[in-house]
Amino acid sequence: MTMTLPLFASFEDITMSYDTLHDLLIAELQDIHSAETQLLAALPLMVKHATTTELSEAFTTHLADTRQQVDRLVKIFTTLGVTPKGDTCKGMQGVLAEAAETLKKKGDPLVIDAAIIGAAQRVEHYEIAAYTSAIALAKSMKHTDVVKHLEASLAEEQSASELLTSIGDSKVLAKAPGMPTAGSKSR
Ligand SMILES: [Fe+2]
Repeated sequence: MTMTLPLFASFEDITMSYDTLHDLLIAELQDIHSAETQLLAALPLMVKHATTTELSEAFTTHLADTRQQVDRLVKIFTTLGVTPKGDTCKGMQGVLAEAAETLKKKGDPLVIDAAIIGAAQRVEHYEIAAYTSAIALAKSMKHTDVVKHLEASLAEEQSASELLTSIGDSKVLAKAPGMPTAGSKSR
């Protein structure tokens, strides 16, 4: 049986045409701007729901990074003479919808922290993919200043992801309950 993905069923809402790499770069930057702006609203909830202090602090730091990343994007839009206005980034919307489900879970706080780290890694890797693509486009068009700003943001996303891995390994997974013990609920 072939499944038709709803988003591919109709192409009616496509308004922008990609005639040049410049068109594509602008669309990608607007998409990243939407992604970062959505994340600005979600990160305070991740700060609040994380139990492990280091994890909560990492989200606070990344909230500051994210504000700076939005500022960089605004500078880029000024340089390129375009507005940040674009469609909502549906990828980030989906990843954050999953993160919101994770934040609502009940259970062992460290197991929930492990789940929050998984959700946050999805966010970071989505952003890493988006910045990597935009950098390749900007490089090909010799937009040196744009590349510099995007690379600064990419480096922050990469170190945020590395920090999540390290907090996960040393503070969460090492201490969270693993195998069910006698009397605990096993599924
Ligand atoms: Fe970001």
